Amino acid sequence: MAQTERTFIAIKPDGVQRGLISKILGRFEDRGFKLVGIKLITPTENLLKQHYAEHVDKPFFPKMLAFMSSGPVLATVWEGQDVVRQGRAILGATNPLNSAPGTIRGDFAIDMGRNVCHGSDSVESAQREIGLWFKAEELVDWKLQQLSWIY
Ligand code: RTP
Ligand code: MG
Repeated sequence: MAQTERTFIAIKPDGVQRGLISKILGRFEDRGFKLVGIKLITPTENLLKQHYAEHVDKPFFPKMLAFMSSGPVLATVWEGQDVVRQGRAILGATNPLNSAPGTIRGDFAIDMGRNVCHGSDSVESAQREIGLWFKAEELVDWKLQQLSWIY
């Protein structure tokens, strides 16, 4: 079974400042996904403009840029079967008013802009975003020594 799909999940400045890192990482670990990259980084405007290229002309972009560069973001890469789609499900709907209880946004967010986390929306987006946020040597390709209880 191919297990090589990867996604980019970021905990936004609000999630870091609210002390939600361990809870959010825990949901991905609990679900059996494998952490292959992690770093705390305050993103530059240049990085964010590339990351959010599809949104640069939208009215909310300046506010989002200021917020996302206001403090550290926890950038992570997770591996596992269908992890892009499953990761989005774990995060919940973009607008917290639509996100179900049990999802990260449904449990922790009340605001569309400060919605705690980011997750890649397709395999192609994930590859692009991982390449923007991480150097190849920062990703760790590790294997389980024994039983396959995670991917
Ligand atoms: P994300 O990229 O952060 O995982 O969120 P998403 O795919 O669910 O939503 P997307 O459409 O990519 O929007 C990216 C982020 O922009 C902010 N946003 N604000 N109307 C607004 O004020 C508005 N629309 C989008 C949100 O923080 C969203 O997560
Ligand atoms: Mg998005």
